[in-house]
Amino acid sequence: MTDINPRYKDKFVSAAEALRAVKSGDRVVVGHATGEPQALIEALVARAPELCDVEIVHMVAMGPAKYAQPGMEGSFRHNGFFLGGSTRKAVEEGRADFTPCFFSEVPRLFRSGALPVDVALIQVTPPGADGFCSYGVSADYTQPAAESARIVIAQMNRSMPRTGGSKIALDAIHYVVEQDEPVLELKPPQIGDIERRIGENVAGLIPDGATLQLGIGAIPDAVLLFLNDKKDLGIHSEMFSDGVVHLAQRGVITNARKTINPGKFVCTFLMGSRVLYDFVDRNPAVELAPVDYVNDPFVIARHDNMMSINSALQVDLMGQVNAEMIGARQFSGVGGQVDFVRGAGRSKGGKSIIAMPSTAAGGKLSRICLEIDRGAAVTTSRTDVHYVVTEFGVADLRGKSLRRRAAALIAIAHPDFRDMLAKAVRGAS
Ligand code: COA
Repeated sequence: MTDINPRYKDKFVSAAEALRAVKSGDRVVVGHATGEPQALIEALVARAPELCDVEIVHMVAMGPAKYAQPGMEGSFRHNGFFLGGSTRKAVEEGRADFTPCFFSEVPRLFRSGALPVDVALIQVTPPGADGFCSYGVSADYTQPAAESARIVIAQMNRSMPRTGGSKIALDAIHYVVEQDEPVLELKPPQIGDIERRIGENVAGLIPDGATLQLGIGAIPDAVLLFLNDKKDLGIHSEMFSDGVVHLAQRGVITNARKTINPGKFVCTFLMGSRVLYDFVDRNPAVELAPVDYVNDPFVIARHDNMMSINSALQVDLMGQVNAEMIGARQFSGVGGQVDFVRGAGRSKGGKSIIAMPSTAAGGKLSRICLEIDRGAAVTTSRTDVHYVVTEFGVADLRGKSLRRRAAALIAIAHPDFRDMLAKAVRGAS
């Protein structure tokens, strides 16, 4: 057991005791992504027979999300700002909900009372010498949820890296559950030949001294493979993963030329392997902050040469980006894409980059398409979009007429689809 000031000893309880604080009808916000407090969720799910209509608000659920499985709908209803493998089906089958919201604005929903928080389930480190617990790998909406909640229940996990920035006093936590367990890890993505070609094309747009935002997945990781010769790159990103560690260790990422927070890796959550978690642990150069700071487009824009790199499912010939729906089916969410597209768009020397393979479904579908699929939403508008990149090249859409945009996008479509797209454009005009 951690050595704790005796005046806090009554707060230390078992998970089962702590989760008794949840009542039917409550809204429970769960710590985000790899910061998910797994032991607390297990204890909440164990109470399913006694509870009804508990809303579980979450974003990227990395665990099995048992509360969203068939049979749980009387007890729990999941409400996601972003969907993943464990929650997508529940929404599709009408057993759970999806709420569209820019990641930067989620804290405002909690703080303003639009979505009042009854209980926040968070995960923290044991307190440090200053008496505060670190939020570890997830500050994002987790810190604002804890600051807005009636009741805060924290899993205290000694495997959680102690990161700089976001922290919470023991006084602000109502129940502490000491439970060590491995922090959730993200499997390394598969980087194939197509992703490498996209990575190389994107890397060609990035100047020395740039500050980077990198989304999740194979494409951002592939970009990092081609940045070895750059100098003094910086990180101001919603999240980062192992690829950034390798470039930092090679001296490519120094954060030295960042125009705000120089010398610091700034992010709102972390997702990777233990290599990442060991790198950030007690690292004075790493700072986590809530997402309404990190993803605020006006904060992002204060970085000169800000480069945002995100992916998409489809881009139509006007440049409208769908990054979250397959037809009428919600696949993921907006996340921080628009926050960073807008911030990079206002940054001096900034570029926002949407990078994706030219095809989907094993080459059967062109992601550069005449129209976004029926039923799908536009994630990034044609007015916000800047660069679109595929393995076939780079389309710079800013300042281009619709006619010239279509031509630039067709030029980076897969060759098998270029004629079809060009004929469709001619037919429409
Ligand atoms: N029609 C049918 N299927 C499609 C499709 C389409 N138009 N587009 C993609 N698919 C399929 C793919 O083929 C793939 O299926 P497979 O796994 O069987 O091959 C699947 O849908 C997923 O597509 P993929 O492009 O591989 O997804 P991804 O995991 O690389 O994620 C996004 C891409 C765009 C969904 C993801 O980056 C995202 O959610 N972005 C929005 C949020 C964001 O940008 N945040 C940034 C800050 S972190």
